[in-house]
Amino acid sequence: MRLLFIGDIVGSVGRKALKACLPGLKSKYNPTWIIANGENAAAGRGITQAITKELYEMGVQGITMGNHTWDQKEIFDFIDKEERLIRPANFPAGTPGRGIMYIKTKEAELAVINLQGRTFLPPLDCPFEKASELVAQAKKRTKYVFVDFHAEVTSEKLAMGWHLDGKASAVVGTHTHVQTHDERIFPQGTAYVTDVGMVGPRDGILGMERTAVMKKFMTQLPTRFVVDEGKWHFHAVVIDLDPATGLGRKIQLIRKDEDAVMFE
Ligand code: FE2
Repeated sequence: MRLLFIGDIVGSVGRKALKACLPGLKSKYNPTWIIANGENAAAGRGITQAITKELYEMGVQGITMGNHTWDQKEIFDFIDKEERLIRPANFPAGTPGRGIMYIKTKEAELAVINLQGRTFLPPLDCPFEKASELVAQAKKRTKYVFVDFHAEVTSEKLAMGWHLDGKASAVVGTHTHVQTHDERIFPQGTAYVTDVGMVGPRDGILGMERTAVMKKFMTQLPTRFVVDEGKWHFHAVVIDLDPATGLGRKIQLIRKDEDAVMFE
């Protein structure tokens, strides 16, 4: 069983990159499931129903979100009906949407759990407690359990990886937009990487037009950030899961660039 997870898709350049890369990845890896983080898909902020549909049409089967979940007002109109899009499960009780979904393909069913970190991000419910609760719930239904932990700091993401080692099939980080090369299989069998990276503008700063970000750092003045244009880069991860145990067997980072295939 093979899972392809695509890092935070940023704006229209990110969607263009997805369109360019996904057909080749599908034929090369033949993934059982394709999941993507879509919380920056609408001009860097949130997602719309039209973009959700666009991602599905390209082959994405499930979408995870994060701290930008509510940035597009229209999300409140469709999130409760959208069974293949989830927001962090540790948002306050009663929040619209859900934090776990099941993606069934002809081969097997994958549970997908989305959680958000609390360091340098809003003070949500404990992601570790919520992770234990939802992984146990998911394991009653399927042995394949994937966690997207949307968090800022590397230590919190590593803590989640170790916390779920041997319980979840895979724990990957999103949100920083910078791919980390610490992919590994933990001792009890959970595949892990601290951050998958992003899909979107290559020459901005984390996908935003860079001069505004630089100005903000240099002047400390209020600055409006906009999504960058231009060339893309594409970051994802391919994870092989053992059909006997549901645990990770191999984890491989994907890194592509509009001008050249860098790593694959
Ligand atoms: Fe984020």
